[in-house]
Amino acid sequence: MSGPDLTGPGALGVTPDVRVLEDPAAMVAERLAEVVAAGGHVALSGGSTPEAAYRMAAERPDLDWGRATLWCGDERAVAPDDPASNHRLVLVSLLDRLPEGRRPRLMRVEGERGYAEAADRYDALMRAELGDEPRLDLALLGLGPDGHVASLFPGRPEVEAEDRLVVGVPEAGLEPYVPRVSMTLPVFNAAREVVFLAAGEGKADAVARAFGDPPDLSLPAARVRPASGRLVVVLDAAAAARLP
Ligand code: 6PG
Repeated sequence: MSGPDLTGPGALGVTPDVRVLEDPAAMVAERLAEVVAAGGHVALSGGSTPEAAYRMAAERPDLDWGRATLWCGDERAVAPDDPASNHRLVLVSLLDRLPEGRRPRLMRVEGERGYAEAADRYDALMRAELGDEPRLDLALLGLGPDGHVASLFPGRPEVEAEDRLVVGVPEAGLEPYVPRVSMTLPVFNAAREVVFLAAGEGKADAVARAFGDPPDLSLPAARVRPASGRLVVVLDAAAAARLP
């Protein structure tokens, strides 16, 4: 594996293991590929940053995705062909690029049903597949400039959800201002591994507040601390610029 090995000891969830890399997407693509090759359950992030990582992971000819299961860490409550759909992002940047017979299961959020019903159905789907206390093998997360993670936005009640795996989010705190569906902090904090991917100076403040010491717990990202999992934060230099 080129570059630092993300599968090393790493920090258990209490303290983030921060990696500042020339090409953070490449490292995330490698880690994603390893978990997929092992047939893991992976929650993918939406947004624009991870797209390069998905495209790179799809270019690995040796990789058989067929035993893996991909979930959406969050979704916009829109139709699957809507440009804002995270499902569409994963299809275009990843799944459609894989050989027909070697594609993973992709567990779609039915955003077209509206945020509340879509959240209830995805919550039930996760419980049916993984039980009431699912341990994802990998949760790949982005970071909003406001410190949101998935579609859990600062100050909103969904951040505090404890008895749900998936919640409906009627009002997004950042664009696109459409209702959302999001996995909850308990799901991310139960994961065996959480990998944040953030790039660009626009994320530097949120990175410093979410992963600095002490973290600013008003940010949902600061509360992603997998109790018995690894927490790795993969950054480019610009996003890491305000870390001490
Ligand atoms: C979403 C994402 C969201 C994203 C951040 C960062 O649905 O928008 O899941 O949490 O990771 O908003 O987005 P960018 O990568 O586009 O900056």
